[in-house]
Amino acid sequence: MCGIIGYVGGQNVLDTLLTGLDNLEYRGYDSAGVALRNDEGVDLVKREGEVSALKAAISSLDVNGSSGIGHTRWSTHGEPSDANAHPHTDCSNEVAVVHNGIIDNYSELRERLSASGHEFTSETDSEVIPHLVEEHLSAGKSPEKAFAETLKTLEGSYAIAMVISGEDTIYAARSGSPLVVGIGEEGYYLASDVPAFLEFTEDVIYLEDGDIVILSDSGYKTIDENGAPVSRSVETVEWSPEGAEKGGFDHYMLKEIHEQPTALERATRGRALTDARMTDGGAATNELDPSFIEDIESVQFIACGTSYHAALYGEQLLAERGIKARTTLASEFVASPPPLHDDTLVIGVTQSGETADTLEALREASSRGMKTLAITNVIGSTAARECDEAMFIRAGPEIGVAATKTFSSQVTTLAQFAAFVSDDPDDLSSVQAELSSLPDKIQQILNDSQAAALAHKYCDAESFFFVGRGTGHPVALEGALKLKEISYEHAEGFPAGELKHGPLALVTPDTPVFAINTGENVDRMRGTIREVAARGAPVVVIGEESTTFDEVTDHLVIPSTSPELAGILANVQLQLLSYHIASLLERPIDKPRNLAKSVTVE
Ligand code: F6R
Repeated sequence: MCGIIGYVGGQNVLDTLLTGLDNLEYRGYDSAGVALRNDEGVDLVKREGEVSALKAAISSLDVNGSSGIGHTRWSTHGEPSDANAHPHTDCSNEVAVVHNGIIDNYSELRERLSASGHEFTSETDSEVIPHLVEEHLSAGKSPEKAFAETLKTLEGSYAIAMVISGEDTIYAARSGSPLVVGIGEEGYYLASDVPAFLEFTEDVIYLEDGDIVILSDSGYKTIDENGAPVSRSVETVEWSPEGAEKGGFDHYMLKEIHEQPTALERATRGRALTDARMTDGGAATNELDPSFIEDIESVQFIACGTSYHAALYGEQLLAERGIKARTTLASEFVASPPPLHDDTLVIGVTQSGETADTLEALREASSRGMKTLAITNVIGSTAARECDEAMFIRAGPEIGVAATKTFSSQVTTLAQFAAFVSDDPDDLSSVQAELSSLPDKIQQILNDSQAAALAHKYCDAESFFFVGRGTGHPVALEGALKLKEISYEHAEGFPAGELKHGPLALVTPDTPVFAINTGENVDRMRGTIREVAARGAPVVVIGEESTTFDEVTDHLVIPSTSPELAGILANVQLQLLSYHIASLLERPIDKPRNLAKSVTVE
C-alpha cells in the first residue's frame, strides 16, 4: 500500500530506484515517481500509472543524481494523476518527500500553510510534509532539525523519506507504516519492504515506530525525534532474491502457486513448533515456549481477507480438538470489541504483518492485557515485533497481490499449532507426518490439474458460486475471493447448507457451482449438489476420486489425504481455476485494479 524506495551510494541511483519500484509495485500502481539529488538541485519525474509509464517518461529526460527517493502509489487522498503522484516538493523545489500512510491532520496544516503563502499543487495529504520542512528551514533550522520538528506536527501514520538540495543525504522516519534500511557494500537502501533491494543486500535494519534514520554515502545513524541516538541491530534476511522474481512464469501468482510444494515443506520440516520469540525485532531465536500456552483455554483469531479464511480454517482445527476458538474480522474486532477472558490467546493471522486493521485489533487486545501471537510470513514485521510471540509461516516472498502460497502455509502452520495445543501427545507428530506428504500431492495437482480446461468451459458464466461444509467452507470463501479479485467476475462463497436458505434463488444454468467436497461432510454435500443440479446449474466437485456423483458435471480431483487437511489441496485447484479464468479474460493478474498488497491504512 504505497511503496517507498531510497538509495545513496556508488551504484547508478536512477537504476537502483527503478529496480526498487519494480519490486515494490505490488504495493500500489496508481502512479510512480522519483526525485534525485544532484549538483543543480533535485530532478523530479512522476507519472500516473504503472512504473512502466514513469520509465517511458524518464527515457526522454536527463535525470541523474547521487542520491534519491522513489514512490509507487495506492491512492487514498486524491485520484491517481501526475499531480497527485509522489514525490511532493516544497514551494522552491528544494525539498522532495515520499510518504506511505495517512496524515490525519493534513487539512488544518494545509490551511495554515496556505494562509502563510505556501502553494499546493496536489490534492494529497502528503504534500504538507515538504512545506512544513521548508517552513522550518526558512526559520534557520538544520535539515535534520527541520525534519524532526516536522514529524512532531504530524498526526496519523507514516513512513517518510526526504531528499534536499545541497546534500547527499536521505532523511527518513516511520510511525505506523513499515520502513526498512538495507546496508550494502555499494551504499544504503531504504524501502517499505525487503524485496525492494534484496538483489543488492540481505543485511537490514527494521526501523521501529518513532525512529528517524539519516543515510549518507559515509554512513547512517538512527535517532529519536529529539535527536538522541537509538541502537538498532542489523539482521540478515533469509529470503533469496530469486524468491522475489518471476522465474520464467508469466505471472508472480502462477509462480507462487507452483512454489507451494517447497513452501509447505518449509512450513513443516524441522518445526517441532520451534518458532521464535521475537526480541528487539531480532531473528528467530527461541522456541515457542509451551508455558506460553499453558493456561490458554480458548483462542480468538483476528485477520482480514485471505488470512481471515485461513484463520476460519484454524478455528475448525482447534474446535475438532475441543479447544474453543472464534475468528473475527480485524475491522469488526475494532468496531465492536468482543468480550475476552484472561485465558484467551489472541492470534493475529497476517501474511505481511503490516495490515493496519489487524495491527489495530492486536493493539486493542494487548491494551486489554491479552496474550498475543502473530502468525506471519515476515520476520521483522510490525505484528511479529508487537505481539508477545510470533510463528513464521516461512512461505518466502509473495509478490502477486492475490495471496496463494501464504494461505496454504498459514493453514499448515495453524494445523501444527492446533496439534501442539491439543491434549493428545501424538497429535503433532501425526499431523506433521500427514503434512509432509502434501508437497508431493500438490505437485501431482500442479502436473495433472484440469483447471485450465474448466476455465475455458466456464469463463463466460454469469456468476460463480462456491460452497463447502466444515473446513470446506473457508476454502469456498477463499475460492470466491480469489476469483473475484483477479478476474473481476462476480463470485460468492457460502456454507453449503445455507444455499437453500436464500442464495439458491441466484442459481441458474449460467452459474456454475463449485462444491468443495472435502472433510468429514462428503455425504452431506450430496444433498446440496442435488439441489443445485435440479436447478440446471453445472456442478463442479473439488474432492478426492470418490467424491463425485451422477449429478456432477465436472470434477477437479485431489489426491487422498486426511479429511482435515484436504482443504489445502482443494484450494490449490481453485487457485489454478481462478488464474486460468483471469488469464483468458486478459486481466492484469498480479496487479488487480483498485487493490494492493499489504493494506497499511484502516
Ligand atoms: C487476498 C489478499 C488479501 C489479504 C488481506 C490481509 O488475496 O491478499 O485479502 O489476505 O489484505 O493481508 P495480510 O495477510 O497481509 O494481513
